[in-house]
Amino acid sequence: MTQKPLMAANWKMHLSIREAVNFVARLHEAVGTPDDREVLIAPPFTHLWALREAMGAAGYSLAAQNCHWEEKGAFTGEISLPMLQEVGCTYVILGHSERRHIFGESDEWVGLKTAAAFAHGMSPILCVGEKLEEREAGRTEAVLLRQLETGLARVPSERIEKLVVAYEPVWAIGTGKTASPEQAQEAHAFIRGWLAERFQKEIAKNIRILYGGSVKPDNVDALMAQPDIDGALVGGASLDVASFGRIVRFQ
Ligand code: G3H
Repeated sequence: MTQKPLMAANWKMHLSIREAVNFVARLHEAVGTPDDREVLIAPPFTHLWALREAMGAAGYSLAAQNCHWEEKGAFTGEISLPMLQEVGCTYVILGHSERRHIFGESDEWVGLKTAAAFAHGMSPILCVGEKLEEREAGRTEAVLLRQLETGLARVPSERIEKLVVAYEPVWAIGTGKTASPEQAQEAHAFIRGWLAERFQKEIAKNIRILYGGSVKPDNVDALMAQPDIDGALVGGASLDVASFGRIVRFQ
């Protein structure tokens, strides 16, 4: 791939604003601004404005954890893409398994959000991944196919290089059970193969496919050594500067 690996922290519903600002300063002390990899943080919405300046100065990217597909309207509790851009976000995580499985987001909604992110010039981080029972029933590829097809149904081919896909097997999220590097590589190769068919081979080569699910300092090197793993989407281990710093500095 020609793009830099993307090492992404998804803080979910953790940390205060003060802790978040402090985290960015300490992370910068620990890892600086690497020029061969991109560092991204997705904090809670309320922290975005406070982090904007420090993230920009450190050369890190800022992401939101979700969005609505409409620009504005009577959607209580929702947030739009222009609002996120106003506070410095260039990426948005979409279809995370917690959104799909706890909050009932449909494939269709994820597709609307992904299309809206492209329309606004933002990079969607489209999350896909199978549940344990789906893997055990041999349905991993069918699930990925459905999520990719619906998630990207409305996306124009000419803007596709902004896309990031995150493969996150649901059974590996927050459980301490990481997919083996081989299991992850197999799913990533399947995703890249589908992207090559749906768009173009040359473009698919440059779309970053992140692995997420219990990424830790002690497994990141083996995961990142796989040919189709272009970064990580890190939950629990991204809440500690030393641990996320080590993940950013994968070898
Ligand atoms: O977005 C991140 C994923 O849900 C992974 O979370 O690293 O705590 O397993 P985790």
